[in-house]
Amino acid sequence: MGVVKDCIKGKKTSYIPIWFMRQAGRYLPEFRKIRSKNKNFINLCLNPNLSKEITIQPLRRFNIDAAIIFSDILLIPFALNQKVEFKKNFGPRLGELNLDEVLDISDEIILKKLTPIYELIKITSKDENLDNKDLIGFIGATWTLLIYMLNKQSPKKNSIGNIYKYPNQRELIQKIVKTQKLHIKKQVENGVSIIQIFDSWAGLLDKEKLNEYVYQPTYELVEYTKSLGVEIICFPRGIESYEEYCDIVKPNAINIDYNVDPNKIAKNIKIPVQGGMDPNCLLLEKNEMLKNAKKYLDIFKDRNYIFNLGHGMMPDTNPENVKILVDFVKEYK
Ligand code: CP3
Repeated sequence: MGVVKDCIKGKKTSYIPIWFMRQAGRYLPEFRKIRSKNKNFINLCLNPNLSKEITIQPLRRFNIDAAIIFSDILLIPFALNQKVEFKKNFGPRLGELNLDEVLDISDEIILKKLTPIYELIKITSKDENLDNKDLIGFIGATWTLLIYMLNKQSPKKNSIGNIYKYPNQRELIQKIVKTQKLHIKKQVENGVSIIQIFDSWAGLLDKEKLNEYVYQPTYELVEYTKSLGVEIICFPRGIESYEEYCDIVKPNAINIDYNVDPNKIAKNIKIPVQGGMDPNCLLLEKNEMLKNAKKYLDIFKDRNYIFNLGHGMMPDTNPENVKILVDFVKEYK
């Protein structure tokens, strides 16, 4: 257990905790080396030794306070027997969804398919690189998974209408939630100290549908995670009102995206805040990058704040800049 968890719990920490979404990934040459020899992304996620190595890679380079397991939110559709592929320069591509088949899959079969992830968590949580640090597990939010399962690729604003019209979606949503709970429970049992929920497409939803597709299922998952004694961070990217989201969903901490005004968040939201800085800032000249980082650090100076980004690290980020940023945040007083 480390300072990220302490911070989320409301404790005072002696420095500002820091980690990054997508801290393991294509911007690191040591990741690209492994990836070039492992063309099938899902199989790579299901190789505990390699995914452990990738999980730890950023900790060897940077003085960061947490590792996030190397996996993907689309392992849930995969466990529900939907085909999932990652195409170069395109992103994920999912296969046909056979609803009857999905609804019929037993917990045992789901867990069998996901077992390598729990093995990854077990061996990683015991690794010395994680002494006094947090290991973060995650799931995609119900709404974001529903989109991928029905739209079969990353959505655009105009893809959403068809999602609402899908028949029997109540049953599908319930099956996703049940599988998410199972996946959260197993991650916790095997050693993650925090769970983060990624709702990458929360911003695409019409306001009057938020309650049904985002607030209700996420609240259920937040309550469930808390009942296991583990803290939960939510990231509803692009949502219009982070205030309303926090009031209803009640996560232990909230990750904000780079489009929201951090001053407004600091004023209106009382729980610990994570993230915010635009990942593109890491592509700027050093002083410009640090100026942006300082803005967030100053705004959240008197608060429990975890430094992170407003979305995942960009593939063309220079690891040198990441190091400069981490050292700057660590020295900030
Ligand atoms: O943060 C981490 O370092 C942990 C690992 C992690 C990955 N994906 C690895 C990954 C996490 C937390 C995710 C979450 C994820 N996956 C989200 C939510 C966060 C977000 O970015 O909005 C989403 C929507 C996905 C689905 C997904 N997986 C997409 C859209 C893509 C392709 C586009 C892209 O950004 O690469 C992936 C592939 C993926 N997941 C890669 C990695 C390192 C790149 C794989 C590669 O080609 O080498």
